[in-house]
Amino acid sequence: MPSNDSATGKFITVEGGEGAGKTSNLAFIREFLEGQGLEVVFTREPGGTALGEELRELLLGHEHDGMSSDAELLLMFAARAEHVAAVIKPALARGAWVLCDRFTDATYAYQGGGRGLDRRRIADLEQWVQGDLRPDLTLLLDLPVAQGLERAGRRSEPDRFEREQMGFFERVRAAYLGLAREHPERMRVVDASLALARVQSQLAEQLAAFCAEVET
Ligand code: TMP
Repeated sequence: MPSNDSATGKFITVEGGEGAGKTSNLAFIREFLEGQGLEVVFTREPGGTALGEELRELLLGHEHDGMSSDAELLLMFAARAEHVAAVIKPALARGAWVLCDRFTDATYAYQGGGRGLDRRRIADLEQWVQGDLRPDLTLLLDLPVAQGLERAGRRSEPDRFEREQMGFFERVRAAYLGLAREHPERMRVVDASLALARVQSQLAEQLAAFCAEVET
């Protein structure tokens, strides 16, 4: 059940592992929604505010390569607290739709699945920082880890997460798929292993169905 019922805007998040084609697919989703005449606030995590973007640099850069998993988790939620309060809630309250490149499912997948942190701690922080706010729709771009890493490997200097090993990304993927099974009401798995045009036709189908559901 969508949790930001009191707001008129809808909250859409996009998730996926490395090399899932998030950037091009987010651009496609944004255009699709704007094509429906909606005001779309496009943002990302970690980041989305001045403080969040500074925290992103600390989290993804190599200056603090040995940071503890707990510190990593708390910094993710520090960035999120600012983002929710300063960007997401105000936008939804005025009726805009928010399209966010990653959100708390990424914490369950990376810090929970990848790093092995207790998910009850994540759930406590989620409740603290977000209250009842949950995404109305989450599109999970899923593909086999080896294929994703092959695609991502063609890009530049790897960040602190991209340097992880295969086993880490396998746990991230398994955690994401587990979340999709737990939250069928809001999560849609999109097969991102296909050619871009076929990924985007799946996205268009999911978005059209969601928009139709919201209108009724
Ligand atoms: P990206 O959004 O550019 O892919 O990079 C963000 C990285 O941060 C990505 O490797 C996933 C990671 N991340 C977490 O580990 N936990 C989180 O809660 C979020 C939002 C991102």
